[in-house]
Amino acid sequence: MSPQIQTSRSAELFARALKSLPGGVSRNAVLRDPHPLYVDHGYGCRLVDVDGQTRIDCANNMAALVHGHADPDMVRAVTAQLTKGTAFSMGTEAEIIYAEHLLSRNDSFEQLRFVNSGTEALMVAIKAARAFTGRPMIAKAEGAYHGAYDYVEVSQAPGPKTWGAPEQPQRVPLVAGTPASAINDVVVFPFNDTERAIALLDQHADRLSCIVFDLMPHRVGLNPADPVFVEAIRDWATAHDVLFVLDEVITFRSSFGGLKDSYNIRADLTALGKMIGGGFPIGAVAGRADVMDVLNPGSKRYLFPHSGTFSANPICMVAGLATMQKFDRPAIERLNALARRAITGIQDSIIATGIAASVTGAGSMLRVHLKPSAPRNYREAYLSPEENQRLKLLLEHMADEGFLLINSGSVALSTPMTEADIDALVAAFRRCFMKLVSLA
Ligand SMILES: Cc1ncc(COP(=O)(O)O)c(C=O)c1O
Repeated sequence: MSPQIQTSRSAELFARALKSLPGGVSRNAVLRDPHPLYVDHGYGCRLVDVDGQTRIDCANNMAALVHGHADPDMVRAVTAQLTKGTAFSMGTEAEIIYAEHLLSRNDSFEQLRFVNSGTEALMVAIKAARAFTGRPMIAKAEGAYHGAYDYVEVSQAPGPKTWGAPEQPQRVPLVAGTPASAINDVVVFPFNDTERAIALLDQHADRLSCIVFDLMPHRVGLNPADPVFVEAIRDWATAHDVLFVLDEVITFRSSFGGLKDSYNIRADLTALGKMIGGGFPIGAVAGRADVMDVLNPGSKRYLFPHSGTFSANPICMVAGLATMQKFDRPAIERLNALARRAITGIQDSIIATGIAASVTGAGSMLRVHLKPSAPRNYREAYLSPEENQRLKLLLEHMADEGFLLINSGSVALSTPMTEADIDALVAAFRRCFMKLVSLA
Protein backbone atom coordinates (compact mmCIF):
# COMPACT_ATOMS: atom_id res chain seq x y z
CA MET A 1 0.00 0.00 0.00
CA SER A 2 1.54 3.32 -0.99
CA PRO A 3 1.65 6.05 1.70
CA GLN A 4 -0.38 8.31 -0.60
CA ILE A 5 -3.26 5.78 -0.74
CA GLN A 6 -3.11 5.18 3.02
CA THR A 7 -3.87 8.83 3.69
CA SER A 8 -6.43 9.27 0.91
CA ARG A 9 -10.01 10.29 1.55
CA SER A 10 -11.14 6.98 0.00
CA ALA A 11 -9.01 5.09 2.55
CA GLU A 12 -10.51 7.15 5.37
CA LEU A 13 -14.05 6.52 4.16
CA PHE A 14 -13.40 2.79 3.89
CA ALA A 15 -12.01 2.65 7.44
CA ARG A 16 -15.21 4.38 8.59
CA ALA A 17 -17.48 2.17 6.46
CA LEU A 18 -15.99 -0.99 7.97
CA LYS A 19 -17.67 -0.06 11.26
CA SER A 20 -21.20 0.17 9.89
CA LEU A 21 -21.27 -2.11 6.83
CA PRO A 22 -20.08 -5.76 6.79
CA GLY A 23 -16.83 -5.68 4.84
CA GLY A 24 -17.33 -1.92 4.48
CA VAL A 25 -19.71 -2.30 1.54
CA SER A 26 -23.28 -3.04 0.54
CA ARG A 27 -22.19 -4.98 -2.54
CA ASN A 28 -18.95 -6.88 -2.94
CA ALA A 29 -18.56 -5.71 -6.54
CA VAL A 30 -17.08 -2.37 -5.41
CA LEU A 31 -14.34 -3.98 -3.31
CA ARG A 32 -10.83 -3.55 -4.66
CA ASP A 33 -7.29 -3.56 -3.32
CA PRO A 34 -6.27 -1.90 -1.11
CA HIS A 35 -9.73 -0.35 -0.58
CA PRO A 36 -12.71 0.72 -2.68
CA LEU A 37 -12.52 4.07 -4.46
CA TYR A 38 -15.23 6.52 -3.42
CA VAL A 39 -16.80 8.68 -6.08
CA ASP A 40 -17.55 12.35 -5.77
CA HIS A 41 -19.33 12.76 -9.09
CA GLY A 42 -19.46 11.54 -12.65
CA TYR A 43 -20.08 13.25 -15.97
CA GLY A 44 -20.21 11.60 -19.37
CA CYS A 45 -17.67 8.80 -19.42
CA ARG A 46 -15.64 10.30 -16.58
CA LEU A 47 -15.64 9.84 -12.82
CA VAL A 48 -14.06 12.11 -10.23
CA ASP A 49 -13.19 10.38 -6.97
CA VAL A 50 -13.26 11.99 -3.54
CA ASP A 51 -9.51 12.61 -3.79
CA GLY A 52 -10.03 14.67 -6.94
CA GLN A 53 -8.64 12.12 -9.40
CA THR A 54 -10.49 11.85 -12.70
CA ARG A 55 -10.71 8.51 -14.51
CA ILE A 56 -12.47 7.20 -17.59
CA ASP A 57 -15.21 4.88 -16.37
CA CYS A 58 -15.04 1.55 -18.19
CA ALA A 59 -17.12 -0.21 -15.52
CA ASN A 60 -20.28 1.88 -15.97
CA ASN A 61 -21.88 0.47 -12.84
CA MET A 62 -21.29 -3.13 -13.85
CA ALA A 63 -22.30 -2.48 -17.47
CA ALA A 64 -25.58 -0.85 -16.42
CA LEU A 65 -24.93 2.58 -17.96
CA VAL A 66 -24.83 3.00 -21.71
CA HIS A 67 -24.68 6.81 -21.82
CA GLY A 68 -22.27 7.24 -18.91
CA HIS A 69 -23.09 9.55 -16.02
CA ALA A 70 -25.64 12.33 -15.66
CA ASP A 71 -26.83 12.00 -19.25
CA PRO A 72 -28.70 15.29 -19.89
CA ASP A 73 -31.78 13.67 -21.49
CA MET A 74 -32.16 11.25 -18.60
CA VAL A 75 -31.63 14.07 -16.06
CA ARG A 76 -34.29 16.21 -17.77
CA ALA A 77 -36.83 13.37 -17.81
CA VAL A 78 -36.21 12.39 -14.19
CA THR A 79 -36.21 15.99 -12.95
CA ALA A 80 -39.59 16.62 -14.56
CA GLN A 81 -41.01 13.45 -12.99
CA LEU A 82 -39.51 14.13 -9.54
CA THR A 83 -41.64 17.22 -9.13
CA LYS A 84 -44.77 15.17 -9.92
CA GLY A 85 -44.10 12.33 -7.50
CA THR A 86 -41.90 9.26 -7.45
CA ALA A 87 -44.06 6.23 -6.66
CA PHE A 88 -47.79 5.67 -6.45
CA SER A 89 -50.31 2.91 -5.72
CA MET A 90 -51.72 3.70 -9.15
CA GLY A 91 -50.74 2.95 -12.69
CA THR A 92 -48.85 5.51 -14.78
CA GLU A 93 -48.89 6.19 -18.49
CA ALA A 94 -45.09 6.22 -18.32
CA GLU A 95 -45.18 2.48 -17.58
CA ILE A 96 -47.28 1.75 -20.67
CA ILE A 97 -45.20 3.96 -22.96
CA TYR A 98 -41.98 2.34 -21.81
CA ALA A 99 -43.40 -1.19 -22.11
CA GLU A 100 -44.45 -0.38 -25.69
CA HIS A 101 -40.97 0.90 -26.48
CA LEU A 102 -39.21 -2.20 -25.16
CA LEU A 103 -41.67 -4.56 -26.89
CA SER A 104 -40.90 -2.81 -30.19
CA ARG A 105 -37.22 -3.77 -29.94
CA ASN A 106 -37.54 -7.54 -30.19
CA ASP A 107 -40.25 -9.58 -31.90
CA SER A 108 -40.11 -12.32 -29.25
CA PHE A 109 -41.28 -9.73 -26.68
CA GLU A 110 -45.07 -9.99 -26.84
CA GLN A 111 -45.75 -8.76 -23.30
CA LEU A 112 -43.63 -7.75 -20.35
CA ARG A 113 -43.67 -7.05 -16.64
CA PHE A 114 -41.39 -4.57 -14.89
CA VAL A 115 -39.60 -5.45 -11.66
CA ASN A 116 -36.77 -3.83 -9.69
CA SER A 117 -33.57 -5.71 -10.55
CA GLY A 118 -32.05 -8.32 -12.79
CA THR A 119 -32.25 -10.80 -9.92
CA GLU A 120 -35.98 -10.24 -9.64
CA ALA A 121 -36.42 -10.54 -13.41
CA LEU A 122 -34.76 -13.97 -13.38
CA MET A 123 -36.80 -14.99 -10.34
CA VAL A 124 -40.08 -13.98 -12.00
CA ALA A 125 -39.11 -15.67 -15.28
CA ILE A 126 -38.30 -18.93 -13.47
CA LYS A 127 -41.49 -18.86 -11.39
CA ALA A 128 -43.53 -18.13 -14.52
CA ALA A 129 -41.85 -21.06 -16.28
CA ARG A 130 -42.62 -23.36 -13.35
CA ALA A 131 -46.22 -22.19 -13.22
CA PHE A 132 -46.66 -22.56 -17.00
CA THR A 133 -45.09 -26.02 -17.29
CA GLY A 134 -46.06 -27.41 -13.88
CA ARG A 135 -42.50 -28.65 -13.41
CA PRO A 136 -40.05 -27.72 -10.65
CA MET A 137 -36.49 -27.90 -12.03
CA ILE A 138 -34.33 -25.42 -13.88
CA ALA A 139 -31.09 -25.87 -15.83
CA LYS A 140 -28.22 -23.39 -16.01
CA ALA A 141 -24.64 -23.26 -17.23
CA GLU A 142 -21.82 -23.88 -14.78
CA GLY A 143 -20.35 -20.58 -13.56
CA ALA A 144 -23.08 -18.39 -15.06
CA TYR A 145 -24.23 -15.46 -12.92
CA HIS A 146 -27.96 -14.84 -12.95
CA GLY A 147 -28.38 -12.87 -9.72
CA ALA A 148 -29.14 -13.79 -6.12
CA TYR A 149 -32.09 -16.23 -6.30
CA ASP A 150 -31.21 -19.55 -4.55
CA TYR A 151 -31.71 -21.70 -7.65
CA VAL A 152 -29.58 -19.70 -10.08
CA GLU A 153 -26.88 -19.25 -7.43
CA VAL A 154 -26.15 -22.97 -7.66
CA SER A 155 -22.70 -23.51 -9.25
CA GLN A 156 -22.26 -19.78 -9.73
CA ALA A 157 -18.70 -19.92 -8.40
CA PRO A 158 -17.46 -23.49 -7.89
CA GLY A 159 -13.72 -24.21 -7.72
CA PRO A 160 -11.58 -27.13 -8.87
CA LYS A 161 -12.05 -28.84 -5.51
CA THR A 162 -15.85 -28.82 -5.74
CA TRP A 163 -16.84 -28.71 -9.40
CA GLY A 164 -16.63 -32.47 -10.11
CA ALA A 165 -16.34 -34.26 -13.45
CA PRO A 166 -17.22 -32.24 -16.59
CA GLU A 167 -19.76 -34.86 -17.71
CA GLN A 168 -21.59 -34.56 -14.37
CA PRO A 169 -20.76 -31.18 -12.79
CA GLN A 170 -21.50 -31.00 -9.06
CA ARG A 171 -24.33 -28.74 -7.97
CA VAL A 172 -22.40 -26.40 -5.71
CA PRO A 173 -24.32 -23.94 -3.51
CA LEU A 174 -22.94 -20.40 -3.29
CA VAL A 175 -24.20 -19.56 0.17
CA ALA A 176 -23.90 -21.73 3.26
CA GLY A 177 -27.31 -22.96 4.34
CA THR A 178 -28.88 -23.10 0.86
CA PRO A 179 -31.59 -25.76 1.21
CA ALA A 180 -30.80 -29.10 -0.45
CA SER A 181 -34.28 -28.93 -1.99
CA ALA A 182 -33.19 -25.86 -4.01
CA ILE A 183 -29.83 -27.36 -4.98
CA ASN A 184 -31.41 -30.62 -6.11
CA ASP A 185 -33.81 -28.82 -8.43
CA VAL A 186 -30.99 -27.43 -10.59
CA VAL A 187 -29.28 -29.13 -13.52
CA VAL A 188 -25.82 -27.68 -14.09
CA PHE A 189 -24.38 -28.13 -17.57
CA PRO A 190 -20.99 -27.19 -19.09
CA PHE A 191 -21.06 -24.21 -21.47
CA ASN A 192 -20.30 -24.74 -25.17
CA ASP A 193 -20.27 -28.53 -24.74
CA THR A 194 -23.33 -29.72 -26.65
CA GLU A 195 -22.95 -33.44 -26.12
CA ARG A 196 -22.45 -33.30 -22.36
CA ALA A 197 -25.08 -30.59 -21.87
CA ILE A 198 -27.74 -32.51 -23.78
CA ALA A 199 -26.92 -35.74 -21.93
CA LEU A 200 -27.45 -33.91 -18.62
CA LEU A 201 -30.69 -32.29 -19.77
CA ASP A 202 -31.94 -35.69 -20.99
CA GLN A 203 -31.57 -37.10 -17.47
CA HIS A 204 -34.18 -34.63 -16.16
CA ALA A 205 -36.28 -33.84 -19.22
CA ASP A 206 -39.67 -34.53 -17.63
CA ARG A 207 -38.99 -32.42 -14.52
CA LEU A 208 -37.46 -29.35 -16.17
CA SER A 209 -39.45 -26.11 -16.43
CA CYS A 210 -36.80 -23.99 -18.13
CA ILE A 211 -33.23 -23.57 -19.25
CA VAL A 212 -31.78 -20.26 -18.10
CA PHE A 213 -29.25 -19.14 -20.67
CA ASP A 214 -26.89 -16.20 -21.16
CA LEU A 215 -25.46 -15.93 -24.68
CA MET A 216 -22.25 -14.32 -23.36
CA PRO A 217 -21.98 -15.10 -19.66
CA HIS A 218 -19.55 -12.70 -18.01
CA ARG A 219 -18.04 -15.13 -15.50
CA VAL A 220 -17.87 -17.91 -18.06
CA GLY A 221 -15.42 -15.71 -19.96
CA LEU A 222 -17.53 -13.03 -21.69
CA ASN A 223 -17.10 -14.99 -24.89
CA PRO A 224 -20.15 -15.25 -27.19
CA ALA A 225 -21.62 -18.77 -27.14
CA ASP A 226 -20.98 -21.08 -30.07
CA PRO A 227 -24.11 -20.75 -32.29
CA VAL A 228 -24.19 -24.53 -32.80
CA PHE A 229 -24.37 -25.01 -29.03
CA VAL A 230 -27.07 -22.34 -28.64
CA GLU A 231 -29.25 -23.82 -31.38
CA ALA A 232 -28.84 -27.34 -29.98
CA ILE A 233 -29.99 -26.23 -26.52
CA ARG A 234 -32.86 -24.17 -27.96
CA ASP A 235 -33.98 -27.11 -30.13
CA TRP A 236 -33.75 -29.49 -27.19
CA ALA A 237 -35.94 -27.14 -25.12
CA THR A 238 -38.56 -26.95 -27.89
CA ALA A 239 -38.60 -30.72 -28.34
CA HIS A 240 -39.21 -31.25 -24.61
CA ASP A 241 -41.65 -28.37 -23.96
CA VAL A 242 -39.06 -26.80 -21.67
CA LEU A 243 -38.97 -22.99 -21.78
CA PHE A 244 -35.85 -21.26 -23.04
CA VAL A 245 -35.24 -18.28 -20.73
CA LEU A 246 -32.63 -15.86 -22.01
CA ASP A 247 -30.75 -13.72 -19.54
CA GLU A 248 -30.02 -10.50 -21.45
CA VAL A 249 -29.49 -8.42 -18.31
CA ILE A 250 -25.99 -7.53 -19.53
CA THR A 251 -26.12 -8.44 -23.20
CA PHE A 252 -29.17 -6.38 -24.18
CA ARG A 253 -26.75 -3.51 -24.88
CA SER A 254 -25.14 -5.52 -27.73
CA SER A 255 -27.79 -4.87 -30.33
CA PHE A 256 -31.19 -3.17 -30.81
CA GLY A 257 -33.06 -6.29 -29.67
CA GLY A 258 -30.30 -7.87 -27.57
CA LEU A 259 -27.46 -10.25 -28.34
CA LYS A 260 -30.08 -12.73 -29.52
CA ASP A 261 -30.17 -10.72 -32.77
CA SER A 262 -26.83 -12.40 -33.63
CA TYR A 263 -28.29 -15.90 -33.25
CA ASN A 264 -30.93 -17.80 -35.14
CA ILE A 265 -33.14 -18.37 -32.10
CA ARG A 266 -36.23 -17.12 -30.33
CA ALA A 267 -36.54 -17.00 -26.56
CA ASP A 268 -39.71 -17.95 -24.71
CA LEU A 269 -38.93 -15.45 -21.96
CA THR A 270 -36.14 -12.87 -21.67
CA ALA A 271 -34.88 -11.28 -18.46
CA LEU A 272 -33.74 -7.67 -18.75
CA GLY A 273 -32.19 -5.25 -16.27
CA LYS A 274 -29.23 -2.90 -15.83
CA MET A 275 -29.18 -0.53 -18.85
CA ILE A 276 -32.96 -0.39 -19.30
CA GLY A 277 -33.19 1.59 -16.03
CA GLY A 278 -31.15 4.50 -17.38
CA GLY A 279 -29.09 4.49 -14.17
CA PHE A 280 -31.94 3.53 -11.83
CA PRO A 281 -32.78 0.07 -10.42
CA ILE A 282 -34.93 -1.99 -12.74
CA GLY A 283 -35.66 -5.39 -14.21
CA ALA A 284 -38.18 -6.73 -16.70
CA VAL A 285 -39.41 -10.07 -17.98
CA ALA A 286 -40.56 -10.10 -21.58
CA GLY A 287 -41.77 -12.91 -23.79
CA ARG A 288 -44.52 -15.12 -25.11
CA ALA A 289 -47.99 -13.81 -24.36
CA ASP A 290 -49.31 -17.29 -23.49
CA VAL A 291 -46.57 -17.73 -20.88
CA MET A 292 -46.95 -14.18 -19.53
CA ASP A 293 -50.66 -14.98 -19.13
CA VAL A 294 -49.85 -16.89 -15.93
CA LEU A 295 -49.31 -13.41 -14.41
CA ASN A 296 -52.66 -12.10 -15.66
CA PRO A 297 -55.33 -12.11 -12.92
CA GLY A 298 -58.02 -11.84 -15.63
CA SER A 299 -56.89 -15.00 -17.40
CA LYS A 300 -58.09 -18.60 -17.02
CA ARG A 301 -54.40 -19.51 -16.87
CA TYR A 302 -53.71 -17.20 -13.90
CA LEU A 303 -51.25 -19.15 -11.74
CA PHE A 304 -48.74 -16.62 -10.48
CA PRO A 305 -49.88 -13.74 -8.24
CA HIS A 306 -47.19 -11.08 -8.51
CA SER A 307 -46.55 -7.59 -7.12
CA GLY A 308 -43.68 -5.33 -6.08
CA THR A 309 -43.89 -2.03 -4.19
CA PHE A 310 -41.54 -0.12 -6.45
CA SER A 311 -42.09 -2.05 -9.68
CA ALA A 312 -42.64 0.28 -12.65
CA ASN A 313 -42.25 3.43 -10.56
CA PRO A 314 -42.31 6.42 -12.91
CA ILE A 315 -38.74 7.55 -12.13
CA CYS A 316 -37.29 4.31 -13.50
CA MET A 317 -39.77 4.36 -16.39
CA VAL A 318 -38.90 7.86 -17.64
CA ALA A 319 -35.17 7.36 -17.03
CA GLY A 320 -35.26 4.09 -18.93
CA LEU A 321 -37.28 5.50 -21.82
CA ALA A 322 -35.02 8.56 -22.22
CA THR A 323 -32.01 6.25 -22.23
CA MET A 324 -33.28 3.59 -24.58
CA GLN A 325 -34.88 5.99 -27.08
CA LYS A 326 -31.48 7.43 -27.86
CA PHE A 327 -29.78 4.02 -27.70
CA ASP A 328 -30.99 3.50 -31.24
CA ARG A 329 -29.41 1.49 -34.06
CA PRO A 330 -26.87 4.16 -35.10
CA ALA A 331 -25.80 4.76 -31.47
CA ILE A 332 -25.39 1.03 -30.88
CA GLU A 333 -23.44 0.57 -34.10
CA ARG A 334 -21.11 3.45 -33.23
CA LEU A 335 -20.50 2.06 -29.72
CA ASN A 336 -19.91 -1.47 -31.02
CA ALA A 337 -17.39 -0.09 -33.54
CA LEU A 338 -15.53 1.56 -30.65
CA ALA A 339 -15.47 -1.81 -28.87
CA ARG A 340 -14.08 -3.53 -31.99
CA ARG A 341 -11.41 -0.82 -32.18
CA ALA A 342 -10.52 -1.48 -28.52
CA ILE A 343 -10.42 -5.27 -28.99
CA THR A 344 -8.15 -4.99 -32.05
CA GLY A 345 -5.86 -2.55 -30.23
CA ILE A 346 -5.66 -4.76 -27.14
CA GLN A 347 -4.97 -7.83 -29.28
CA ASP A 348 -2.13 -5.93 -31.00
CA SER A 349 -0.78 -4.89 -27.60
CA ILE A 350 -0.86 -8.48 -26.37
CA ILE A 351 1.24 -9.54 -29.37
CA ALA A 352 3.58 -6.54 -29.11
CA THR A 353 4.29 -7.02 -25.39
CA GLY A 354 4.35 -10.82 -25.47
CA ILE A 355 2.10 -11.07 -22.41
CA ALA A 356 0.22 -14.36 -21.93
CA ALA A 357 -3.21 -12.79 -22.32
CA SER A 358 -6.29 -12.86 -24.52
CA VAL A 359 -9.36 -10.73 -25.07
CA THR A 360 -13.00 -11.71 -25.55
CA GLY A 361 -16.27 -9.84 -25.94
CA ALA A 362 -19.03 -8.70 -28.29
CA GLY A 363 -21.23 -5.67 -28.71
CA SER A 364 -19.93 -2.89 -26.48
CA MET A 365 -18.13 -5.09 -23.95
CA LEU A 366 -14.79 -6.84 -23.74
CA ARG A 367 -12.83 -8.79 -21.17
CA VAL A 368 -9.08 -9.15 -20.86
CA HIS A 369 -7.94 -12.55 -19.60
CA LEU A 370 -4.45 -13.10 -18.26
CA LYS A 371 -4.49 -16.45 -20.03
CA PRO A 372 -2.99 -17.15 -23.46
CA SER A 373 -6.18 -18.63 -24.97
CA ALA A 374 -9.64 -17.15 -24.83
CA PRO A 375 -11.78 -19.27 -22.45
CA ARG A 376 -14.87 -21.00 -23.84
CA ASN A 377 -16.29 -22.32 -20.59
CA TYR A 378 -16.21 -21.59 -16.85
CA ARG A 379 -13.39 -23.99 -16.05
CA GLU A 380 -11.18 -22.41 -18.69
CA ALA A 381 -12.08 -18.91 -17.44
CA TYR A 382 -11.43 -19.81 -13.80
CA LEU A 383 -8.50 -17.89 -12.30
CA SER A 384 -5.85 -19.61 -10.19
CA PRO A 385 -4.75 -17.64 -7.10
CA GLU A 386 -1.63 -16.48 -9.02
CA GLU A 387 -3.71 -15.36 -12.01
CA ASN A 388 -6.01 -13.54 -9.61
CA GLN A 389 -3.05 -11.68 -8.10
CA ARG A 390 -1.87 -10.61 -11.55
CA LEU A 391 -5.36 -9.44 -12.44
CA LYS A 392 -5.46 -7.30 -9.29
CA LEU A 393 -2.15 -5.76 -10.31
CA LEU A 394 -3.52 -5.06 -13.78
CA LEU A 395 -6.61 -3.36 -12.29
CA GLU A 396 -4.43 -1.26 -10.00
CA HIS A 397 -2.11 -0.19 -12.82
CA MET A 398 -5.09 0.65 -15.02
CA ALA A 399 -6.62 2.75 -12.20
CA ASP A 400 -3.28 4.58 -11.85
CA GLU A 401 -3.39 5.15 -15.61
CA GLY A 402 -6.83 6.73 -15.22
CA PHE A 403 -9.14 3.86 -16.24
CA LEU A 404 -11.65 2.15 -13.97
CA LEU A 405 -12.39 -1.42 -15.13
CA ILE A 406 -14.83 -4.04 -13.84
CA ASN A 407 -12.95 -6.23 -11.35
CA SER A 408 -12.95 -9.20 -13.72
CA GLY A 409 -10.83 -7.20 -16.21
CA SER A 410 -13.92 -6.34 -18.24
CA VAL A 411 -14.77 -3.11 -19.98
CA ALA A 412 -18.28 -1.78 -20.74
CA LEU A 413 -18.27 1.20 -23.07
CA SER A 414 -20.59 4.21 -22.98
CA THR A 415 -21.76 6.51 -25.78
CA PRO A 416 -19.92 9.64 -24.55
CA MET A 417 -16.63 7.85 -25.32
CA THR A 418 -14.67 8.87 -28.40
CA GLU A 419 -12.05 7.17 -30.56
CA ALA A 420 -9.44 9.18 -28.66
CA ASP A 421 -10.68 7.69 -25.35
CA ILE A 422 -10.45 4.20 -26.83
CA ASP A 423 -6.94 4.80 -28.14
CA ALA A 424 -5.92 6.08 -24.70
CA LEU A 425 -7.45 2.94 -23.14
CA VAL A 426 -5.48 0.71 -25.49
CA ALA A 427 -2.25 2.63 -24.82
CA ALA A 428 -2.83 2.25 -21.07
CA PHE A 429 -3.37 -1.50 -21.47
CA ARG A 430 -0.14 -1.73 -23.46
CA ARG A 431 1.87 0.05 -20.73
CA CYS A 432 0.27 -2.13 -18.03
CA PHE A 433 0.98 -5.31 -20.01
CA MET A 434 4.64 -4.21 -20.25
CA LYS A 435 4.76 -3.73 -16.49
CA LEU A 436 3.27 -7.19 -15.86
CA VAL A 437 5.68 -8.80 -18.35
CA SER A 438 8.63 -7.13 -16.63
CA LEU A 439 7.47 -8.56 -13.26
CA ALA A 440 7.07 -12.14 -14.56
C1 LIG B 1 -26.22 -11.70 -16.53
C2 LIG B 1 -26.80 -11.16 -15.26
N1 LIG B 1 -28.00 -11.58 -14.84
C3 LIG B 1 -28.57 -11.11 -13.74
C4 LIG B 1 -27.93 -10.18 -12.94
C5 LIG B 1 -28.58 -9.68 -11.69
O1 LIG B 1 -28.94 -8.33 -11.83
P1 LIG B 1 -29.10 -7.39 -10.54
O2 LIG B 1 -27.73 -7.13 -10.01
O3 LIG B 1 -29.77 -6.15 -11.09
O4 LIG B 1 -29.95 -8.11 -9.57
C6 LIG B 1 -26.68 -9.71 -13.33
C7 LIG B 1 -25.96 -8.73 -12.49
O5 LIG B 1 -24.78 -8.50 -12.62
C8 LIG B 1 -26.08 -10.22 -14.51
O6 LIG B 1 -24.88 -9.81 -14.89
